[in-house]
Amino acid sequence: MPSPSENTPAPAARLVDQEDLDALQEFIDEGVLTRVLGVVKAGKEATVYRCAARFPGGPPIAAVKVYRSAGFRDFKNSAVYLEGQVIGNGQARRAVEKKTSAGREIAASMWVNREFDVLSELHSGGADVPEPFFATDRAILMSFAGGEAAAPQLQHVRLAHHEAGPLLDRLLWNIETFLDHHLVHADLSPFNVLVADGRPLVIDFPQAVDPRKNPNARSLLERDARNICRHFARYGIEADAERFVSELWRRYRLGEVGTFAGLG
Ligand SMILES: Nc1ncnc2c1ncn2[C@@H]1O[C@H](COP(=O)(O)OP(=O)(O)OP(=O)(O)O)[C@@H](O)[C@H]1O
Ligand SMILES: [Mg+2]
Repeated sequence: MPSPSENTPAPAARLVDQEDLDALQEFIDEGVLTRVLGVVKAGKEATVYRCAARFPGGPPIAAVKVYRSAGFRDFKNSAVYLEGQVIGNGQARRAVEKKTSAGREIAASMWVNREFDVLSELHSGGADVPEPFFATDRAILMSFAGGEAAAPQLQHVRLAHHEAGPLLDRLLWNIETFLDHHLVHADLSPFNVLVADGRPLVIDFPQAVDPRKNPNARSLLERDARNICRHFARYGIEADAERFVSELWRRYRLGEVGTFAGLG
């Protein structure tokens, strides 16, 4: 029996643009989505939809993140994240560099694949991230955080004092777990953390970097930790991001963190 939410009209779905509609239709054609219920958030690089899903072992409600191909030119100022990455063959690389429309399609699918792979790795590693189920060249279908509405971003949540400390600890544990998988989120902030049932869920991973390849990893890690620690000052918690990162990085360099093979 469909849940009540599946019976409600989806006015927000009228905002869907044609490109997104095509991307969503692929999942409907595959038989894993039945309906688009609404827009969760339209961002610069992607739009996230709340959808009714139906596949074996899957949840009834899923989130679909559809990447925008036209909006990719300044995607998270890509250079700093792509350093150390090899982009496909020469032809693909030139198309991406010249930002032709084919190049943008290739770039979009690279970011989608990257986010899907990172989410898969981290979810199976036990980190607090959405569970990814399916991906196409344009979109990722993953677990939805929330109920009728999406779980709020940490930025917009007023935590009770007793919740703040454990939530910060859990976020720092997640940062360490990411590094255990040779990953630095690289765009971590209270906007990319959702809070559901007092627990954090870290989202938005396409720009994640591998410290074994990317020379900017340590400073990106430091920025991530600083963004998180700074947020908790409002709850009277003074967390020393620099010290946390120095110690974590020292252990990482010694091989005491980083026990998984990672994405390679
Ligand atoms: N799995 C999910 N469940 C519920 N809501 C989600 C999920 N993933 C993303 N969202 C919502 O969609 C918003 C945008 O997602 P995300 O940060 O991944 O995309 P983005 O395009 O990079 O956005 P931005 O540019 O705003 O960071 C999130 O802030 C959150 O509100
Ligand atoms: Mg985001």
